[in-house]
Amino acid sequence: MYLCLCRAISDRDVAAFARAGACTVAEVFKAKGCKPNCGSCIGHIKGSLDEALAVTAPAEMTAAAD
Ligand code: FES
Repeated sequence: MYLCLCRAISDRDVAAFARAGACTVAEVFKAKGCKPNCGSCIGHIKGSLDEALAVTAPAEMTAAAD
């Protein structure tokens, strides 16, 4: 599902960027190679990023504990 219509950023993009190390909305846009246009998607991208980071964080924490 597209979260940002201006820049065609989907929830799958956000999850992939989170797995690659993006931790902020700005880093998501940077990973996509663009900047926000209208900004109406910021909250949606932040929510999706938070969900993606919650999923990826436990694995990283487990790896760090090894
Ligand atoms: S919908 Fe994302 S910048 Fe406009």
